[in-house]
Amino acid sequence: MADTTPQERILELRKELNDHNYNYYILNSPTISDQEFDALLRELASLEAEHPEMADENSPTRRVGSDLSNDFKHVEHESPMLSLGNTYNREDVREFYERVRDGLGGQPFEICCELKYDGLSISLIYENGRLVRAVTRGDGVRGDDVTQNIRTIRSIPLQLRDELPYPARFEIRGEVLMPWESFEKLNAERELKEESLFANPRNAASGTLKLKSSAIVARRRLDAYLYFLLGDDIAADTHFERLQMARSWGFKVSEDVCLAHSLEEIYAFIDLWDEKRSSLPIATDGIVLKVNSLAQQEELGFTSKNPRWAIAYKFQAEKATTRLLKVTYQVGRTGAVTPVANMEPVLLAGTMVRRASLHNEDVMNALDLRIGDYVYVEKAGEIIPQIVGVDTSKRTSDDGERVKFITTCPECGSTLVRYEGEAATYCPNDASCRPQILGRIEHFISRDAMDINTLGPETAATYFSRGLIKNVADLYQLTVADICGGYPSRRLSAHNVVEGIAKSRKVPFDRVLYAMGIRFVGRVAARILARAFGSMDALMAARQDELLRIDGIGPVIAETVVAWCAEEANKQLVERLKEAGLQMEMKEEAPLGDKLAGQVVVVSGTFNMHSRDEYKNLIEKNGGRNASSISSKTTFVLAGNNMGPSKLEKAQALGIRLVTEEEFLTMIDEADVPRQQSLF
Ligand code: IVH
Repeated sequence: MADTTPQERILELRKELNDHNYNYYILNSPTISDQEFDALLRELASLEAEHPEMADENSPTRRVGSDLSNDFKHVEHESPMLSLGNTYNREDVREFYERVRDGLGGQPFEICCELKYDGLSISLIYENGRLVRAVTRGDGVRGDDVTQNIRTIRSIPLQLRDELPYPARFEIRGEVLMPWESFEKLNAERELKEESLFANPRNAASGTLKLKSSAIVARRRLDAYLYFLLGDDIAADTHFERLQMARSWGFKVSEDVCLAHSLEEIYAFIDLWDEKRSSLPIATDGIVLKVNSLAQQEELGFTSKNPRWAIAYKFQAEKATTRLLKVTYQVGRTGAVTPVANMEPVLLAGTMVRRASLHNEDVMNALDLRIGDYVYVEKAGEIIPQIVGVDTSKRTSDDGERVKFITTCPECGSTLVRYEGEAATYCPNDASCRPQILGRIEHFISRDAMDINTLGPETAATYFSRGLIKNVADLYQLTVADICGGYPSRRLSAHNVVEGIAKSRKVPFDRVLYAMGIRFVGRVAARILARAFGSMDALMAARQDELLRIDGIGPVIAETVVAWCAEEANKQLVERLKEAGLQMEMKEEAPLGDKLAGQVVVVSGTFNMHSRDEYKNLIEKNGGRNASSISSKTTFVLAGNNMGPSKLEKAQALGIRLVTEEEFLTMIDEADVPRQQSLF
């Protein structure tokens, strides 16, 4: 390092920053904090300023990053989506304030203080009150057209309320977010399926918005806050007034916006939210300060990358240092082995942290850990604690050896395997490795699977230890006498358990298939497979190419399912579950419930996921009534593509809600999740 010339350092920094950009924007998996990234970028910018001979238009300092993905149409923004300059301390905020004051030559000015939402920015175009296009920021000049996915976000109005006259055409920008609640639910589901977890809600929102299936997007419950209204014919002279206007048109605009008239008022806003933001339902990573008057914004103008009239202040990521005591290993339901760092307890963002996942062998090796090391622990976006580095200056010469990933299963002693192209290491002994069996039982009885709520995972584990059950099929042979084991006082609860298990025989086939716990076969895939094949026998006989022809089933699922079905132990399991009387075929679907009771629905247009007739059936099965024409009695219109213009006009005239097919499916599928107020 000592001999590196500035020229060499410039090249080194460019490569490093390009890699970080790729990790962040393409892989959605950053390995350093924004603050560290900005520090590197600043170092590069100052070296480049000193060495103009090294100028390169492809330098990371010349661009604002890109999140383009290949799956969506790329669309050019009508005006570039610029990012904001970042500051990390009060001193920088004061400098911004003074630059604005000097730039405005002593005129009085106001600063609009807002929260900085930690999601991904989106541009929405409205024409005649209807959402016509939604585009991600992309590289700032062009982004991905994600209109279909954005339509599933309930807080984004598809049709504006017309209490106030809105311009015939305008653009509004804001942030798409995954609320903490949805994020935690999603990660819990992923953990159950042993899929990799999202590190924070921003990555989860970004990954979700890039999904090809809008139906899945709809289930993930994204939200959006809007903070920037663009357009010439808007009757407002200040940013603040524009926000109020947008709110009155039905957009979700934060109430936590404040006008500051001095630096002290700005600091007070920062202090307030640094504390209070932890109680918000969504993630924030700072404060945004904007000059309120639009005329003054224009006067101040832009640099090549950022507006001069706005700046972001970023909150400090919570960090702590503690000692690594040991690394332990957890074996999951599918046999995946996860290394876990056990540390001396340390207080971080209000909670005591003792353990942090090291994810897998590669992540662990990259940290180059020794037992006794002082490690930096960070709560990225206040979620799961992560070890982000080692304080090597605190190492002594007699420090131990580098921590090496184990080669045998800590539970059963089998030699571990790592499959090509996979990050995880597995214990292959699925037949008798205890946590794998218990994990499968826990999954089987869980709510979305067989929903045996009279039996919890701990009790199931005691049955396993007592030798009462060895696999899930044994559950159906349990008797009250077995469970009591000579203790009459256990009779009542034993009876409940047996009854709960018996009741699960009625659980429909798609959930039985999900309950089998085939790797990568989540609820949605199980439903698709169950519908496509109709029975377990047909699925067990299916070839890989037949599976691949099904919409929604990719090569990974196809291969895994075929391999699972070919295994002797699984064939026996299926036979025993069949004998136990579980549903192994799709039944003619009985009424699904009364989620649409009393509602009158008009189905109009063409659809992607089901036919019109299927939708009409679904409406009736959920207790609703179909009607062919729109009237004041219509509750909502299930609107597909190419809905007739006269129907559309009539629905608008009568103020009747238009519901997309994604929204409709969510409506009937997940009625147990509290529904948000629709904003149409
Ligand atoms: S205003 C020209 N306001 O932070 C001004 N941005 O680099 C445009 N963000 O790309 C942005 N909360 O994704 C603005 N209240 C807020 C914001 C906000 C979050 C994001 C946005 C932008 C980035 C700044």
